[in-house]
Amino acid sequence: MTEKATTDMPHNKMTVRDVSVYYGAKQALFDVDLDIREKSVTALIGPSGCGKSTFLRCLNRMNDTIDICRVEGQILLEDEDIYAPDIDVVQLRADVGMVFQKPNPFPKSIFENVAYGPRIHGLADSKQALTEIVETSLKRAGLWEEVKDRLDEPGNGLSGGQQQRLCIARAIAVSPEVILMDEPCSALDPIATAIVEELIDELRQQYTIVIVTHSMQQAARVSQETAFFHLGYLVEHGATEDIFTNPTDSRTESYITGRIG
Ligand SMILES: Nc1ncnc2c1ncn2[C@@H]1O[C@H](COP(=O)(O)OP(=O)(O)O)[C@@H](O)[C@H]1O
Ligand SMILES: [Mg+2]
Repeated sequence: MTEKATTDMPHNKMTVRDVSVYYGAKQALFDVDLDIREKSVTALIGPSGCGKSTFLRCLNRMNDTIDICRVEGQILLEDEDIYAPDIDVVQLRADVGMVFQKPNPFPKSIFENVAYGPRIHGLADSKQALTEIVETSLKRAGLWEEVKDRLDEPGNGLSGGQQQRLCIARAIAVSPEVILMDEPCSALDPIATAIVEELIDELRQQYTIVIVTHSMQQAARVSQETAFFHLGYLVEHGATEDIFTNPTDSRTESYITGRIG
């Protein structure tokens, strides 16, 4: 193998091995293995109820907040086991941030929505440093130009698409490595959706992104890798282009051609 081929080997940001999830006695995910490639967008697709959100929540231990939920298996962030007993879960959720389906800004100003995380994580040692983090985060989220003159106004006074970008800025503000997004555009109109999709494409220069989407068109537009889930199983994972043009499993093919789902 040439040296170039070696250095071009994709790096895995997260490694999921043999993950099963139960809600009480009901098993929702079965022995899932997945390598999540660094600085790329991985789309999770599959019919409603197949376990996409459950899987996403495993990646930053959000399932811990659901009493009856139990997670088995191993998940690494780089080479750190995120389910190890000594893991600081608050820090983990900063490193692996999350954006939800419905934009959920805090009932605070635009500035405070973004400043909150850096403040509680002690990331800024002066007012000026904090202001810089807020500005940089809003710029990276593609929102700065629209809000720079009204940072003191309430975050929830923005349009839906702007609120979702504010939530992305809030996630970015604590310097995450991975950003999880659970159907981030499903409450947005087509124009706001297009803006957020463009943003996701820019963000992958810097962050590893895992996005749940019920839209195969969206998966095809924004992702480089796609994982197809069905009835709690990860059926197939690979380059998005291959999954959509040349799936190997008949269940994947049925789903992408619209026969199941
Ligand atoms: N909080 C919960 N309590 C009990 N069962 C749940 C909970 N969340 C999800 N489930 C169940 O787990 C399965 C997978 O759900 P989910 O991960 O939400 O699927 P998807 O995001 O693909 O629609 C479904 O059968 C769902 O009913
Ligand atoms: Mg879901």
